[in-house]
Amino acid sequence: MLSLDEIKKPIAEELDTFEGKFKASMQSSVPLLDRITHYIVKRKGKQIRPMFVFFSASLCGGITEATHRGAALVELLHTATLVHDDVVDNSYERRGYFSINALWKNKIAVLVGDFLLSKGLLLSINSNDFELLRIVSEAVKQMSEGELLQIEKARRLDIDEKVYYEVIRQKTASLIASCCACGASSAGADAATVEKMRLFGEKVGIAFQIKDDLFDFGTDEIGKPLGIDIKEKKITLPLIYALSKSSASEKRKMINLVKNHNEDADKVSEIIDFVRSSGGMDYAAGQMAAYQEEAFNILNDLPAHSSRDALQQLVRFTTERKK
Ligand code: IPE
Ligand code: IPE
Ligand code: MG
Ligand code: MG
Repeated sequence: MLSLDEIKKPIAEELDTFEGKFKASMQSSVPLLDRITHYIVKRKGKQIRPMFVFFSASLCGGITEATHRGAALVELLHTATLVHDDVVDNSYERRGYFSINALWKNKIAVLVGDFLLSKGLLLSINSNDFELLRIVSEAVKQMSEGELLQIEKARRLDIDEKVYYEVIRQKTASLIASCCACGASSAGADAATVEKMRLFGEKVGIAFQIKDDLFDFGTDEIGKPLGIDIKEKKITLPLIYALSKSSASEKRKMINLVKNHNEDADKVSEIIDFVRSSGGMDYAAGQMAAYQEEAFNILNDLPAHSSRDALQQLVRFTTERKK
């Protein structure tokens, strides 16, 4: 696997301009807001979504000014949803630092998320990027639906594998899909190509979230809390599989732990051990590999290009990354 920095090399200049635009688009004359967006900009994430936008554009006709705005748009929306997600998940760590809600409380985090979302919308509207806005707005709608479906399932604890895929397709894959579609569209690609790129991004996005869910059962330092999914009663693929392979009594016991002892660190560890010993991790890793393979197959249908190779590396990174 290549490192993210190595994969970034061909678009290093684009990413540089992107960062300037991203920073500038967050500015506000409200001092509190300016302090918070400063805090956010200093602790940047992996920026894989802008990378998907740029490489998709490059592969489908070439990077344009609209591609740059598309990259800033998706990273703004991604940042907004992370700020909100940490409120929803009660999570106090993000990117190795305190989350916005940990430092400024929920009230402010909700409003900052809304501010970032509105900045994204304005960025597109001010440049008449209506097609990009259409693609991305569809994803934002799906993200809210996915997070709400997840909450509904967490309350009833009755999620199965099929619903799990529906949740992650909506809450995570839809945005990565929109990155690839936006990139292609900003390069002037035809509708069939835009759709192909969207589907490619969707497969990658599903693999990306399975990896994220696997991290939660691990022990590696990933810059955000571990075991938090169970604490929030989120039953993800490794646990779904483990439950499906266990006896009725064991299943009852584990569901009871998730339901009534999810705040107890020892009980959460017991659930994690149960998942590890029943092959849940391996199963999820296998499913992730299958989605990765589907993504590769879609890519291979597209013409050979250095950016196609870069996208392939980015897919690999998605499933082999350390955080
Ligand atoms: C986190 O996404 C949210 C998920 C969909 C799991 P990233 O892992 O891409 O977050 P950053 O931007 O790099 O922090
Ligand atoms: C993805 O789910 C969240 C979003 C779609 C914003 P998670 O809740 O698992 O993401 P992390 O682990 O907090 O980054
Ligand atoms: Mg979360
Ligand atoms: Mg997670």
